[in-house]
Amino acid sequence: MMPGGPASPLAQLVARFGTEVIVTDPASLEATAVDHRRLYRGKPLALALPRSTAEVSQLLALCNALGIGVVPQGGNTGYCGAATPDESGTQLVLSLRRLRAVRRVDALNDSMVVEAGCLLVEVQQAAAAAGRLFPLSLGSEGSCQIGGNLSTNAGGVNVLRYGMMRELVLGLEVVLADGRVLSSLDALRKDNTGYDLRNLFIGAEGTLGVITAAALRLFPPPRAVATAFVAVPTVAAAVQLLADLRAASGDRVSSFELVPQQALDLVLQHVPGSRAPLTDGSPWYVLCELTSARAEDPLDAILETALATALEAGLATDAALAQGERERKSFWHLRENIPEGQRRDGPSLKHDVSLPIARLAAFTERASAWVAAEVPEARLVAYGHVGDGNLHFNLNQAPGRAAGALAAREADIKRVIHDLVREHGGSFSAEHGIGRLKVEELQRYASPVELALMKAIKQAFDPRGIMNPGKVLAAR
Ligand code: MLT
Ligand code: ZN
Repeated sequence: MMPGGPASPLAQLVARFGTEVIVTDPASLEATAVDHRRLYRGKPLALALPRSTAEVSQLLALCNALGIGVVPQGGNTGYCGAATPDESGTQLVLSLRRLRAVRRVDALNDSMVVEAGCLLVEVQQAAAAAGRLFPLSLGSEGSCQIGGNLSTNAGGVNVLRYGMMRELVLGLEVVLADGRVLSSLDALRKDNTGYDLRNLFIGAEGTLGVITAAALRLFPPPRAVATAFVAVPTVAAAVQLLADLRAASGDRVSSFELVPQQALDLVLQHVPGSRAPLTDGSPWYVLCELTSARAEDPLDAILETALATALEAGLATDAALAQGERERKSFWHLRENIPEGQRRDGPSLKHDVSLPIARLAAFTERASAWVAAEVPEARLVAYGHVGDGNLHFNLNQAPGRAAGALAAREADIKRVIHDLVREHGGSFSAEHGIGRLKVEELQRYASPVELALMKAIKQAFDPRGIMNPGKVLAAR
C-alpha cells in the first residue's frame, strides 16, 4: 500500500472483521482453491468464515461497496465448479461452516429450521431424532452442506418419491448482495403473497445472494423397507418395470436406480468391500427400493410378487431381494460408489442429462451407439435415476489410451451428446447445475427469452455483479 493511499480490499476486510473471520493462511486457502473433480484451480483472495447471519450481512455490504467478488462454498462436493474462485486472486471464498445450528424442529408442523453450514447428514439426524424424515439423500451426504444442496437444487436417490431440494423447502433466510436480509422462515405451507422470491435463490448457485438458513419440510419416517437388485435386459425394460412396480405397490417406490454392468465392474474393481449381488452378468441392473411409513406393510411380499411377474414377462432376468439391513446396505454401497469407482479408474467426462422418461430408452440407444462407433477412447458408464429420467451419461477413458486422449475430445463429445439430448426433448443439466462448467451450454441451449429474463433477475438482485461472478451466467 502506498503511504496515505487507500488500503487494499483485503486489508480493509481484515481491518473490519479481523483474522478470526478473514483467513489467509496458505493451507486454508489451498483447501478452497480446487473443486471436487479437480477441473479448476482458483486463487482465492481470502477465506471468510462469518459466525452469524448478521456478520454475513456486514461482510456482503462491505464487499458490495468495494466490488469484491464473493464465491460461496459449501462442502465443495459439486461437479460443475460453482464453488471455486477464479484465477484472478481477487475473489473472496465465503464458507458458512460456522453457521451450523439446528434452530428448531417442529414435529407437529413437519418442519425444521437449519443453518446453511449444517452437513446434510446432520440435518437427516436431527430430523430422525425428532421421529421425522428429511428425505434428501446423496452419496456426499457426510460432507455436503445443506446451503450447497439448496443453492444447487440437489437431487439424489429419493427424488422419485419426495422431489428435489426445491420441493423440500418451506422458506429461506438469504443475505442479498448489498447486505439486506430477506427472511421467510415461518414454515408456512400456504403463502400466496406475490412473486415466489425464495425459489429464485434455490438452484442459483450463489449468484443472487447467500442462503444462510432454511425451513425444511419433514415427513413420517419409513417403518418398512424392501430393496432388490434386479438384472434387466434393456433400459426400456427398466422403464416398464418402474411403471409396473409403482402400480403393484400403490406408488411406494422411493428409489429406482439404473446401474450398467460397466459401472458395477468399476466399483467391484476399485472400491473395497464391494460384492456383486447376482452371479451372472447383465447389461443393466436396477436397484429399487419400496418404503412405507406403516411398519406392517408387507413390502417384501409385494416386491417379490412384482418381480416374479417381471421375470415371467422378460422385463427382468434375475433378482436378489435384500435379506436384512446388511445386505440392503451392501446393495446401496455399490450404487453410491459408482462416482468413486469412476474417479479411481481415471479421467472421465460427465454428462448429467435428463429426458422425458418415455424417451430415455431411445436416447440411450442412439447415444450409446454413437459412442461405440465414434469414441474408441472411451468406455461408457451410463447410470442414474431412471425414475426421474436422469441419466449420468458418463464416459471413462478406455484402458491403454494415452494420457489426455479422452479429455482432448471433450468438446466434440459434449456437443453430440447434448444435441442428442435436445433432439429427444431433454435437458443438458438435470441435477448438477451450471457452475462454471456449463456456462456456454446454457448460452447455447436456453432460449433468448429465458436468457434475457435471467440476466434481468441477476441485474435486479446483484447490480454490481459481486455474487459468484462468471457462474451460471457469463461475467459481465
Ligand atoms: C450420482 O448420482 O451418483 C451422481 O450424481 C453422479 C455422477 O457422479 O455423475
Ligand atoms: Zn445423480
